Amino acid sequence: PRHLLTLDGLPREALEALLIRAQAFAEGHYDRRALDGLAVCTLFFEPSTRTRMSFQLATQRLGAQALNFDASTSSTSKGETALDTFKNLEAMGVRGFVVRHREDGAVAALAEHARPGTVLINAGDGRSAHPTQGLLDMLTLRQAKGIDFSGLRVLIVGDVRHSRVARSDLQALRTLGTGEIRVCGPAALLPDDGTLHGCTVSQDLDAALDGVDAVMMLRLQRERMEEGLVASLDDYHRDYGLTAARLRRAAADAAVMHPGPINRGVEITDEVADGPQSLILTQVANGVAARMAVLEALLKG
Ligand code: CP
Repeated sequence: PRHLLTLDGLPREALEALLIRAQAFAEGHYDRRALDGLAVCTLFFEPSTRTRMSFQLATQRLGAQALNFDASTSSTSKGETALDTFKNLEAMGVRGFVVRHREDGAVAALAEHARPGTVLINAGDGRSAHPTQGLLDMLTLRQAKGIDFSGLRVLIVGDVRHSRVARSDLQALRTLGTGEIRVCGPAALLPDDGTLHGCTVSQDLDAALDGVDAVMMLRLQRERMEEGLVASLDDYHRDYGLTAARLRRAAADAAVMHPGPINRGVEITDEVADGPQSLILTQVANGVAARMAVLEALLKG
């Protein structure tokens, strides 16, 4: 595709090709002038640390100019729309746009107005999709567990309802033929819109953890939540927090993942987040490589 808006519908060969390139980048094999002369803008209307910084690093490592748009200090504070902002930056000659927005479909809506040759990458829209997080998570799983996912049992835990990360991870895990995908969380935080088709769904974390090869914890997205969906953070932690004792129910070498930012002591304890099975910072490192693969695929040539 010309843009990367979602992993939904991306053929397995295309996904695997991106992961193979990302692995090469992770190993340091790349041309520092691959995107020479191009400019890429991180156009974020929502906060970010990992996605924005890693896209800027990825852009620079491939030789393109990285521009950062900060909504809080931009003319959007004077009422300028996202579309006008995008069109103005495009008029300056920016070729790549990495866009995060709180509304579902906002990045696709901008893409409809893009000139030929302009490329958009979804860096997270509403609850819908975060395709490069899905890619970096699959890269991390491949490195830890091998490239054949057919024997893997992967568990996603927590606030799936509000999570664009979970939606992109689920799409990628299905495309890559994952043996069993389990999802666990309180009923109020599980979507009922078809997102979980083909998954084994449970509200009992202890049972869901039994024998899994990887557990992907999600952040409780309080900023997207109506009041009262979760009784209290203490209750949530008691029922759905990943502790060292709980983790012992998973396979002995189970990988622990979390997209960040972490609510420490809520969805995961410090001991587990910083423990020997945690791949959380490996995910972050892989974010740069995965984003290099996407930028190269969409912008080179
Ligand atoms: N995982 C993730 O998207 O983190 P940021 O919100 O910090 O970019």
